[in-house]
Amino acid sequence: MSARRRPLVAGNWKMNGLRACARELAAIIAGAGELSAVELMVCPPATLIAEFAGFAGGTPVAIGAQDCHPEPAGAFTGDISAEMLRDAGATAVIVGHSERRTFHKETDADVRAKALAARRASLLAIVCVGETRAEREGGSALEVVRSQLDGSLPDGSTADTVVVAYEPVWAIGTGLTPTTNDIAEIHGFIRQRLASRFGSTMGTMRILYGGSVKPSNAKELMSVADVDGALVGGASLNAQEFLAVAGVYR
Ligand code: 13P
Repeated sequence: MSARRRPLVAGNWKMNGLRACARELAAIIAGAGELSAVELMVCPPATLIAEFAGFAGGTPVAIGAQDCHPEPAGAFTGDISAEMLRDAGATAVIVGHSERRTFHKETDADVRAKALAARRASLLAIVCVGETRAEREGGSALEVVRSQLDGSLPDGSTADTVVVAYEPVWAIGTGLTPTTNDIAEIHGFIRQRLASRFGSTMGTMRILYGGSVKPSNAKELMSVADVDGALVGGASLNAQEFLAVAGVYR
């Protein structure tokens, strides 16, 4: 972790959370004061964004969304635009999560369009990439990540508009994690690709690791070179666990 990059720990609540879960957010906000070295973000389901943004306003906890439509408005029943998320109080949006790529058949081109929409609406885009188990076992993890990165990141991406999240699909929700050597290899490779495409300023773009991050493994995972924070799923639903993960940056 370079001194030039402030770590980000973001909680992806996925399709979990009712209004009563504001108490978890309140507990995260209460604990955030002691964690000034790290940026904290909660990405609740869209139904909670406006309310959570209201609670979190003026605190160090940012509110993000989990997906957006590429268009600003129009006849797209059930979809939500980046502008709407911004209007509701979000400051970031996850795009290209493997669950969207798998269950909604999103392609790299779709993800790129969503990242562009985020930029248009002044939202930070957290762009997810990561290989499946079969791809890792077949030795093509680097190639898969290279192709997802090239296809999903828009031209002109900067450290202010994009964060990359490496989330190996087989590590999500399974309790499995890659070895620290494997994470170092992929994160170093992502850093190189960013630099060769966008130039040396890409040294400041943050690369998060995601996939079964929890309090018991966070210290080890977050100490790997070029890991600038975490995208946390299950453990982010509990304030104490989420704060314990972020606490490795204390
Ligand atoms: P888990 O932390 O539950 O494995 O989920 C990771 C994830 O998908 C975050 O986006």
